[in-house]
Amino acid sequence: MKFFIDTADIEQIKEILPTGLVDGVTTNPSLIAKQGKDMRGIIESICEIVKGPVSAEVTATDYENMKKEGLYLSSIAKNIAVKVPLTEDGLKTCRELSNKGIMVNVTLCFSAGQAILAAKSGATFISPFVGRLDDINESGIGLIKEIYEIYKNYNFQTSILVASVRSMEHIIESAKIGAQIATLPPKLIKELFIHPLTDKGLKAFLEDWKKTGQKIIPDNG
Ligand code: E4P
Repeated sequence: MKFFIDTADIEQIKEILPTGLVDGVTTNPSLIAKQGKDMRGIIESICEIVKGPVSAEVTATDYENMKKEGLYLSSIAKNIAVKVPLTEDGLKTCRELSNKGIMVNVTLCFSAGQAILAAKSGATFISPFVGRLDDINESGIGLIKEIYEIYKNYNFQTSILVASVRSMEHIIESAKIGAQIATLPPKLIKELFIHPLTDKGLKAFLEDWKKTGQKIIPDNG
């Protein structure tokens, strides 16, 4: 399973990058707005340090302007994935851009029917929002299962990019299904490292080791 980071905060990206766990980045207009800086500058800085796909979202809602914005965004760097919303104009834009060899991330997907349309429009990634579905008492993970099965039946090449991830359970359940990618808030990546038995076990090992008075690398080594 690939991990993308769901943030436009360059400092957060720089902090996690050395782990080698970052396969890409997703941003959206809300995440960019939170930074209070120029969008182009933010996207350029992210693309300079992240090799994998970096999603940058259009904000126009009509086909002609979405296409223009998509082409503009894709010219910022080779690894840009243009993010378009799952609307009729968004999918027309998706078809146009993917025909030109540009990666497209179709966002705001909330149903299996929408996911079929995105795959048929040549989307590189489909972003079903699991957390926001859970928020309205529908099953986000249930949607991932449905999309996975459908895409497999037709050998669609679109990757499932699980979005709006709120918990460890979302990550584990998506991985069990076989979703190719999850985009995670930085806080959740950090949580994945943690288990109380790891901390407890390490503490005990180090206490026992201290009693031996040894060093792995001797002072004269
Ligand atoms: C990712 O592409 C989405 O922009 C993001 O995961 C949305 O998450 P949220 O529902 O927590 O805002």
